[in-house]
Amino acid sequence: MLRTHTCNELDKTSIGKEVTLCGWVHRRRDHGGLIFIDLRDRYGLTQIVSDPTKSSDCHKTADEVRSEFVVQVKGTVRERPEGMRNTNLNSGEIEVLVKDFKILNRSDTPPFEIDQDKEVGEELRLKYRYLDLRRQRLKNNIMMRYKIIKLLRDDLDKMDFVEVETPILIKGTPEGSREYLVPSRLYPGNFYVLPQSPQQLKQLLMIASMDRYFQIARCFRDEDQRGDRQPEFTQLDIEMSFIEAEDIMAINEKLIIDLIETLTPGKKIQQKPFPRLTWKEAMDKYGSDKPDVRYEMPIVDISDVVNDCEFKVFKEAVKNGGFVRALRVEGGAKFTRREIDEYTDLAKQYGAGGLAYIQVTEEGPKAPVLKFFKDDEIKAILEKTGAVKGDIVFFAADQFKVVCEVLGHIRSVCAEKIRPPDPNIFAFCWIYDFPLFEWSNEEQRLNATHHPFTSPHMEDLDKLESEPESVRAMAYDLAVNGNEIAGGSIRIHDAVLQGKIFNLLKIGTEDAQRSFGHLLHAFSFGAPPHGGIAWGLDRLVMLMCDEPNIREVIAFPKDQKARDLMLSAPSEMPSDQVAEAHIRIHPPK
Ligand code: AMO
Ligand code: AMP
Repeated sequence: MLRTHTCNELDKTSIGKEVTLCGWVHRRRDHGGLIFIDLRDRYGLTQIVSDPTKSSDCHKTADEVRSEFVVQVKGTVRERPEGMRNTNLNSGEIEVLVKDFKILNRSDTPPFEIDQDKEVGEELRLKYRYLDLRRQRLKNNIMMRYKIIKLLRDDLDKMDFVEVETPILIKGTPEGSREYLVPSRLYPGNFYVLPQSPQQLKQLLMIASMDRYFQIARCFRDEDQRGDRQPEFTQLDIEMSFIEAEDIMAINEKLIIDLIETLTPGKKIQQKPFPRLTWKEAMDKYGSDKPDVRYEMPIVDISDVVNDCEFKVFKEAVKNGGFVRALRVEGGAKFTRREIDEYTDLAKQYGAGGLAYIQVTEEGPKAPVLKFFKDDEIKAILEKTGAVKGDIVFFAADQFKVVCEVLGHIRSVCAEKIRPPDPNIFAFCWIYDFPLFEWSNEEQRLNATHHPFTSPHMEDLDKLESEPESVRAMAYDLAVNGNEIAGGSIRIHDAVLQGKIFNLLKIGTEDAQRSFGHLLHAFSFGAPPHGGIAWGLDRLVMLMCDEPNIREVIAFPKDQKARDLMLSAPSEMPSDQVAEAHIRIHPPK
């Protein structure tokens, strides 16, 4: 070994020892006579002192080294003089007086300072990710990520789960996202697909009697990037046999509580056991299927109050089967015209025609739309929403989905503005009883809300054909502070029912056979009742590390345009390699 200790190992008990350390020059301070160097490795820092009166050769080297040089230092551990101690460092009471100093490698001047937590542009950080990873913030995040995965593995192992690796080169499966294709060299015109998740494979493992499976699984989705999305990301993927939704929620709840309480004791879980809301309750009350329940701020339906009012927008919405809903924002009477315009723009982004409002000022209710309402209507609105002097009430009138989405977003933006919720509280909640299908206006057909392998509620089976949109799924999501961090379901394990669902999703028999023949066939060999869940691990790590986006907790993430700026991927390939994959490139238009 090139060293006897790491840079975080030596302390008072080591005084007098002869040691050899290796690491990077973190910081160098020339105090005229003495040169001090903070030597850094993954574990921490140790102060090195070079004294020209003790060794002039060493001192020459100490004089020559610069930030990020890699060095080997031999010397004696001694106590730091009074007043020079650093209580923030494990090695803060000692220093190493150098006797032999060797440069192992030189470094160019780094594009940003490694020894400081200064803001650096993200492009630069991503291009030099290996340097960014030397900095404390990312180092901490990557270590935390490792600890989280280790604890999950240990806990699951204790509960008889086995980790099974499933393949990355697979066949396409419609789970809702665009897939990454991999051309086959051996089979011209044929493609593998990268898994959106191990969904089908974990179900096949249940048919294979594996009983309790998990995997730290890489998933690939060619979708538009956001702060909480990456084209490749990691799931904690779980599947179990002979199990009910209740058991899956209980096991996962236990797992996540142990995780948070062990590794982030500074975070307080708001409520245990986690509260549960049906999808309908969550949408009605919070306008979201992943509500932030750290605060209440409920949305209130006022359709019955305004269904006969003079304001056409409201009246028509109710007449057309839609809803008028209201959101009271405490203290919002002081919102300026400009702020209200911003909220209105936001509402329009989510599909609303506008965002009506009433400000309850010292002189009474004020609003451009006030003239359309009778006094008793205004009184009823204020009563129903609980609005008092100083508040504002926002209104959305439209079909169910738009109204929920608009007020749900206004709710979280206003909460952030009025009284930012405490980031050290984790308010988990389970959302269940999702609709099995959603109607797509664009495609003019039903889509699976979760995925097409999710079981309908047994009580709703008779409505599958007559009222498909009212059929509930045996699906559940786990949300925390407005983030969806896990989702799963009880699966269909019957080939006939699965066929029926494919039919309703307009996946024709032939298509179904071609895409899922293997699964339907497997169901004919004794498929056990089964179900599971997958956690978005990056999102959970992000929240546990107090990071604003998942790129900060992934060692080598893609940027927001799905590029790897360090490797320069994607990139053009040599034409012979492209030809070998039987690909001809059309020049982009
Ligand atoms: P789902 O598609 O809901 O379910 O994914 C599960 C969880 O994965 C996270 N997630 C993502 N994280 C980062 N980047 C992305 N692009 C991304 N997409 C999803 C979310 C989500 O809750 N096979 C099913 C699970 C099952 O039914 O067992 C599935 O993949 O946190
Ligand atoms: P208008 O009649 O278009 O001038 O709109 C009057 C007010 O109603 C404005 O404040 C609009 O933002 C608001 N408004 C318009 N459409 C809707 C809607 N669908 N839901 C709620 N408010 C709306």
